Amino acid sequence: MREDMIEHNRESMIALLQETGREGIDCLVEWLDKETDYFTAPASSRPGYHGCHEGGLAEHSLNVYTLFEQKVRQFNLDVKPDEIVIASLLHDACKIGQYQPNVLKSGALSEAKPYVIEDDFPLGHGEKSVYVVSQHFALTQTEVLLMRWHMGPFDEAWEQWEPRVGKACPSVYAFHDADMEASKYLDVRG
Ligand SMILES: [Fe+2]
Ligand SMILES: [Fe+2]
Repeated sequence: MREDMIEHNRESMIALLQETGREGIDCLVEWLDKETDYFTAPASSRPGYHGCHEGGLAEHSLNVYTLFEQKVRQFNLDVKPDEIVIASLLHDACKIGQYQPNVLKSGALSEAKPYVIEDDFPLGHGEKSVYVVSQHFALTQTEVLLMRWHMGPFDEAWEQWEPRVGKACPSVYAFHDADMEASKYLDVRG
């Protein structure tokens, strides 16, 4: 059942990305699909946290897309349809390759801590998402700002930068809310 869901989400995400028609999108999709764990990675390492299971990152990313797309329409925000897709689906690209299965000697996955974080490039959270994707695809300024600042007040630099970020990209508040609402209300726990 989980495999069906993972494949369904993979196909949905690839279709959304390709529908943007953006230059270089095929290369980005090819990289994500063939060289990363983007469609199978969890979204967190602790049971009870959002998306702590295979495919959790993809589920979360799609939920953020659904919520942010609604908010852009509701509040008439200045974000293009392709930017909604790119920013939503890739805001947590920093998690690619970051969670390693915590396999016990018995061969089973640890129930207490199913994944361990291995981050050999600790650039930050949103910062790393921007960097990782930019290695393969040209992001717009709106996408960069949304992805970089999606943690909002949970980012230590937010207080200092918020006046400028909020002015340059007012939709960042809705994007942060979409991320929070997805993780609290929509993503499958555990
Ligand atoms: Fe995040
Ligand atoms: Fe997120």
